Amino acid sequence: MDANLSMIYISALFLLQASSILAQPTVFDIRKYGGAPNGDLTSSLERAWEVACASTSASKVFVPKSTYNLRQIELNDPCKAPIELHIEGNIVAPENPNQFNGDSQWLRFGYIDSFTLSGGATFDGQGSIAWNKNNCAKTWNCKKLSMNFGFSFMKNSVIRHITSKNSKHFHVNVLGCHNITFNEFSIEAPADSLNTDGIHIGRSTKVKILNSNIGTGDDCISLGDGSRQVSVENVTCGPGHGISVGSLGKYENEEPVEGFIVKNCTFKNTDNGVRIKTWPGTSINIPVSGLRFENLVMINVTNPIIIDQEYCPWNQCSKQTPSKVKISRVSFKNIRGTSTTKKGIILICSSSVPCEKVKLTNINLKFNGTPAIATCKNIKPQVFGNVPTCTP
Ligand SMILES: *[C@@H]1O[C@H](CO)[C@@H](O)[C@H](O)[C@H]1NC(C)=O
Ligand SMILES: *[C@@H]1O[C@H](CO)[C@@H](O)[C@H](O)[C@H]1NC(C)=O
Ligand SMILES: *[C@@H]1O[C@H](CO)[C@@H](O)[C@H](O)[C@H]1NC(C)=O
Ligand SMILES: *[C@@H]1O[C@H](CO)[C@@H](O)[C@H](O)[C@H]1NC(C)=O
Repeated sequence: MDANLSMIYISALFLLQASSILAQPTVFDIRKYGGAPNGDLTSSLERAWEVACASTSASKVFVPKSTYNLRQIELNDPCKAPIELHIEGNIVAPENPNQFNGDSQWLRFGYIDSFTLSGGATFDGQGSIAWNKNNCAKTWNCKKLSMNFGFSFMKNSVIRHITSKNSKHFHVNVLGCHNITFNEFSIEAPADSLNTDGIHIGRSTKVKILNSNIGTGDDCISLGDGSRQVSVENVTCGPGHGISVGSLGKYENEEPVEGFIVKNCTFKNTDNGVRIKTWPGTSINIPVSGLRFENLVMINVTNPIIIDQEYCPWNQCSKQTPSKVKISRVSFKNIRGTSTTKKGIILICSSSVPCEKVKLTNINLKFNGTPAIATCKNIKPQVFGNVPTCTP
């Protein structure tokens, strides 16, 4: 090779290497920002995040495997480029609920585009002390405790390979997000822990929850008003109160729920399987439509399939005025397993706005070895295949 040619060859090689280096995110290791294994992570994480977030190319904040304490943290500003927070190990919350600011969240992420949280970390909310102080099961008006995670107004983001454990209150709140995916996201809390809902979604579009195990003391997943295009696939729920739409219809300014798919999921020892619940007694009129529940396995579930438009815990409402939430285009398909009650299917719709276009296809639920029955009110479901007949 002559000198010129080899120069060209070397510079081409250099360019090739440079471009592959450029494609990798720049790593910001918290140990360079004062973070130490077995220490308090809060200030080093804030510092590393600040620099990474200002980077004009993709960045990754790296927290190596260890156990860390973490105080409440807010990462609430858009970043200049895609950013990943890669955390390994075990992250522990303050035990004392008074160290949190009101009904807030331990880790709050907001207004970030192209965010990834990954790394296999477990976030332990240390809820057991707080649960004993929570009287929310007995009274509506109770002091709210902090949640493990809040994701607000995020876009194009992924939460992957993360565990949330023993949150003081809900584990995750998703608000105002667009295109956010939870994949291999585990939630662990005991069956008797109060209000430890798994993932609550509100006013968000294109939310996915995939390949995840969720066990809690309340709903595994719940959809609040304004949820659109939400899909849940390959999720195991239990213990817990199942996967719920609602409760809806309690407040005047609620937005419609449109587009929800729950597919290939298993419910184990849960209070409900799939549920839609709306409050009677209020005047607002919001539509809930386009829901598909299919290929579901129920194992020892109290109410495997339930629409409850007379949802009224603590007598918070007057059942005299029927719910104004209009439920339509709902499909329950290929649902099998065991119910711990004879009424495996409960469809109680509103007398003022009866449910419309509800389809039941191949429902095979057993109670003590015999087929579970269906009880229906203000609804005439379309049935396909093997489905128990509706009784009043
Ligand atoms: C949704 O977000 C993911 C993760 O950032 C991204 O890869 C994907 O392109 C986004 N989808 C759309 C339609 O923008
Ligand atoms: C659900 O699980 C199956 C089998 O493990 C897998 O092939 C499929 O991709 C999963 N679905 C999603 C959306 O990840
Ligand atoms: C459904 O999910 C289970 C795991 O929960 C998986 O083993 C199975 O392959 C999935 N089936 C499909 C069709 O995705
Ligand atoms: C079935 O669920 C009931 C509660 O509804 C529970 O007491 C019982 O232990 C469960 N059975 C099994 C085999 O898990």
